[in-house]
Amino acid sequence: MEKRVVLITGCSSGIGLGLAVLLASDTCSRFKVYATMRDLSKKERLLECVRDCHIDTFEILQMDVTDQQSVMATVEKIKEQRVDILICNAGVGLMGPLECHTYDAMKNIFDVNLFGTISTIQAFLPGMKKRKKGRIIISSSVGGLQGVPFNDVYCASKFAVEGFCESLAIVLQHFNVHVSLIECGPVSTNFMDNLQRLDPSDSSLQSVDSDTISLYAQYLQHCKTIFQDVAQDMDEILQVYLEAIEAPVPSLRYFTTQFFMPLIKLKLSCASGSEYVQAMHKFVFSETKPKE
Ligand SMILES: NC(=O)c1ccc[n+]([C@@H]2O[C@H](COP(=O)([O-])OP(=O)(O)OC[C@H]3O[C@@H](n4cnc5c(N)ncnc54)[C@H](OP(=O)(O)O)[C@@H]3O)[C@@H](O)[C@H]2O)c1
Repeated sequence: MEKRVVLITGCSSGIGLGLAVLLASDTCSRFKVYATMRDLSKKERLLECVRDCHIDTFEILQMDVTDQQSVMATVEKIKEQRVDILICNAGVGLMGPLECHTYDAMKNIFDVNLFGTISTIQAFLPGMKKRKKGRIIISSSVGGLQGVPFNDVYCASKFAVEGFCESLAIVLQHFNVHVSLIECGPVSTNFMDNLQRLDPSDSSLQSVDSDTISLYAQYLQHCKTIFQDVAQDMDEILQVYLEAIEAPVPSLRYFTTQFFMPLIKLKLSCASGSEYVQAMHKFVFSETKPKE
């Protein structure tokens, strides 16, 4: 059976690394995986996990999604191969009161999460359209569907990814190219450690009013509880990606958890948005579980 060629971005850690290992170790060798990462000095962990994989099923390539030359160099390197499944997974977070974020920090979030995703898809889409076949899978987030306090810029970038993908999916139907967004809630990866997060004691918060600092401290506590109570294991998450890869006709959205569904449904059913804002405020600042 011909292998399906998969290219994944952001494979140095977390979901990207897990996916690369899962697909490269497939017992029926159904995939050839190109695991890409921006910094090849981080490849040891991945190499350790795929020790037994053959070059036929696994290769690591350098690719920084914010660097056009690096993206095009990857297209060039594998041009003899078609990419059947493109997984845009690279992403970064930013947390804290808005007035403390620097312009560069905010721009970096959009450069990686939005423009990195767009330029990766732009680079590999012509081949898929030509062959009238392909799958594009994106590591999105429930934060791409609902606003989350103190994650304004991160959510904005993921909302933008959602709008981009939903729009693109309509045209790509004509080309038998399917777009799927994986709506992750909290996942036990290093994402929280890797994101740029301000701590209440941080000097850059000194100029922020005390009410905001106090709300932010409450949010961090809520976040800790949520991660402790509902963060999903990697294996659970990877099965959802596999579902999108294997489905005869994949959906536009896959939810990895039902936990946030009441809030998402409330948002979709009350067009004014006020109900959602109130419910999210209550959930974060005075409850631990979203109400049905
Ligand atoms: N974990 C969660 O709770 C959660 C929840 C919802 C959505 N997600 C989404 O899931 C995706 C993966 O996150 P994760 O949890 O696996 O976190 P992670 O372990 O921090 O992985 C993020 C990956 O993105 C890479 N990356 C960052 N900037 C890049 C760039 N310019 N070019 C290429 N790669 C770059 C990182 O590489 P470096 O090692 O070089 O930084 C790393 O490999 C992200 O899109 C995130 O928004 C995660």
